Amino acid sequence: MTRQIRAAITGTGSYLPSKVLTNADLEKMVDTSDEWITRRTGIKERRVAAEDECTSTMAVEAARRACDSAGIDPSELDLIACATISPDTLCPASACYVQRDLGAKNAAVFDLSAACSGFVYCLTIARRFIETGQCKNCLIIGAETLSRFTDYTDRGSCILFGDGAGAVVLQAVEDNSRGVKYTVMHADGNGWDYIWTPAGGSKLPASHKTVDDRLHFLKMRGRDVYKFAIEKMQWLLEDCMKACNLSNDDVDLVVPHQVNIRIIKSATEKLNFPLEKVYVNIDKYGNTSAASIPIALDEAIRSGKVGRGSTILLIAFGAGLTWAGAVVEL
Ligand code: COA
Repeated sequence: MTRQIRAAITGTGSYLPSKVLTNADLEKMVDTSDEWITRRTGIKERRVAAEDECTSTMAVEAARRACDSAGIDPSELDLIACATISPDTLCPASACYVQRDLGAKNAAVFDLSAACSGFVYCLTIARRFIETGQCKNCLIIGAETLSRFTDYTDRGSCILFGDGAGAVVLQAVEDNSRGVKYTVMHADGNGWDYIWTPAGGSKLPASHKTVDDRLHFLKMRGRDVYKFAIEKMQWLLEDCMKACNLSNDDVDLVVPHQVNIRIIKSATEKLNFPLEKVYVNIDKYGNTSAASIPIALDEAIRSGKVGRGSTILLIAFGAGLTWAGAVVEL
């Protein structure tokens, strides 16, 4: 068999800020209840960044842990891709601060904005850089400080979001038995207003009025997102398994975007996919957008749920609208 260059996940890391925001805390802020949030979403608590933390500081912590677990020095990295919709600054990219703080002086860097699908988009891009020989050691990060863009007077959205960061090291290997096997990405810009932040960009720059009107916070059409998410989660699961000729038995773990337990259950039940093989940590961290998959993957690997030889599916969907999936042999 000819030896191909494959892109393998060789290390993972994550970071969650220590401050916890519980459903009981939210009960004091908006008209809601622990019972409502738990029943409708599965979320019990989420993390919130400290005042001196932001997207790049959390990303750096996750990245250090990923590099340590891969046994690689940051100076060996040739690419850092950071998926985020809550960057430190609009300019430059958060990945620039990450590069500086890691001392990854040989890495090219960029941020990617595809919301909750961002991490899988970055994985897809980095995979191709590796397979074509352009890069050998890539760091892919999903990091979000959504608490800075969440309207804590809007009960329809503030119950969902949390902060955190996850990272993976993707390296070139000449081993056909492991690596990223399949990736798929899609988008539909007609759904731009399902989840969006109206102000602060070139269309509606910051002004006293935009601040007064609370237009720098994420706005969401919850019901519409709900329907979209179920449909796409189902489609991605089916597509990934079909593309790699996998049955439910062949898949060791699905790591979905941590969106809402009802969405995850509904999509997997329709396909008779066992919930025991779906990684869920939404109860602890809520929806951390681009960070949710790499955080969950890191937990799944560190807890021994999956490891070398496991076949995993990564499934994501989010604002844009965007959706993306990957099949990886660890
Ligand atoms: N606490 C109590 N009641 C709430 C509430 C809250 N936090 N948020 C909304 N409600 C109320 C609504 O006002 C509505 O009341 P009404 O019937 O008197 O008008 C009722 O609950 C039902 O609202 P609805 O929006 O239809 O609820 P839902 O079952 O769709 O659940 C979400 C709302 C947001 C939890 C759900 O739509 C969801 O998870 N959507 C996906 C959002 C998401 O994940 N976005 C990020 C995507 S990557």
